[in-house]
Amino acid sequence: MTAIRVALLGSGVVGSAVAKRLVDEADDLAARAGAPLEVVGVAVRDTGKDRSATGLAPELFTTDAEALVQRADIVVELMGGIEPARSLLRKAIEHGASVVTANKLLLGEDGPALYEQAEAAGVDLSYEAAVAGAIPLIRPLRESLAGDHVTRVMGIVNGTTNYILDKMDRTGAALADVLAEAQELGYAEADPTADVEGHDAQAKAAILASLAFHTRVVTSQVHCEGIMGITAEDIQAARRIGLVVKLLAIAERVRDDSAGDALSVRVHPVLVPRSHPLAAVHEAFNAVFVETELAGDLMFYGRGAGGDPTASAVLGDLVQAARNRVAGGHGPGESAYADLPVLPIGRA
Ligand code: NDP
Ligand code: HSE
Repeated sequence: MTAIRVALLGSGVVGSAVAKRLVDEADDLAARAGAPLEVVGVAVRDTGKDRSATGLAPELFTTDAEALVQRADIVVELMGGIEPARSLLRKAIEHGASVVTANKLLLGEDGPALYEQAEAAGVDLSYEAAVAGAIPLIRPLRESLAGDHVTRVMGIVNGTTNYILDKMDRTGAALADVLAEAQELGYAEADPTADVEGHDAQAKAAILASLAFHTRVVTSQVHCEGIMGITAEDIQAARRIGLVVKLLAIAERVRDDSAGDALSVRVHPVLVPRSHPLAAVHEAFNAVFVETELAGDLMFYGRGAGGDPTASAVLGDLVQAARNRVAGGHGPGESAYADLPVLPIGRA
């Protein structure tokens, strides 16, 4: 059976967890995918770092990502950031590779162009790990709910800020002290201001809104307020009156007098009653409510960040992309047909 050639771009928190699993579970993954998944190389910045924990041979690590993507059937992008990730994914698709990415920053900014390129090339572009870590959310929105109408998506989609707010609530600690813990645990972005200023959740909100409402929303259209201004005193004051502070991402269909059918998409801290299920989402867990016309309310809950949980979502995409290649096809694309304006915050 011909092996599927897999290129990994990045071997950090998530990439190394994916690599290790590809080594440790090679036989099982091959059986599930329908062909062996052969790692043909791993692009990193520094080939001098000790990568032995992955179980991969040292000679597989390279700084030449551009050459690597041209000799793979599936490229798994786990380096983050806009460039060179965007150019590398574009090049991979040009060469007919399927791509898997966890890069919400890139998808929130430039997802529509990448989806179109993948669609035109007839390859998979999968990104289950880009929103809410391990939680299966992208595929349910794109596939399981394709016959329903979503009216609202709302939830906690950033593990770092939930970890920080939860710890501040439970211990009275200050934000700066708890941020360092979230970084050590591998939850935070390379630049953690993306988490605490809400930009990570903002990009995820754009991705979710696009999928849920069959439209195109980019990060810059999403209203965003982070948690930097929240003090230990604010948290304790909320606690005294039975409330808890959570950073929520909300995307909902609204009716506007001048715009007609429109969307409100926003990220900001919210005071949540302690009796609400979102109040019970602790540490770096995420939870997302999806409200629909036919299915009613659905709740998705699980680990939103961290190496192994995120690797689970990445590997699911990888196995599915491999199955599709073995079968000679590709999975469902994006159906963006609705042209819904996104209202500025004051109008929603
Ligand atoms: P890390 O910073 O831990 O790892 C990044 C990896 O990419 C490193 O191996 C780094 O190389 C490599 N890299 C970065 N830039 C380049 C470059 N220009 N050329 C070659 N290699 C490069 O990031 P994470 O693993 O935490 O995150 C990866 C992606 O997954 C990001 O898009 C992130 O948003 C997303 N994500 C992360 C989650 C998490 O919990 N951490 C959860 C969900 C998604 P080197 O090792 O040499 O420095
Ligand atoms: N930094 C992100 C978070 C990683 O804390 O949610 C998962 O996307």
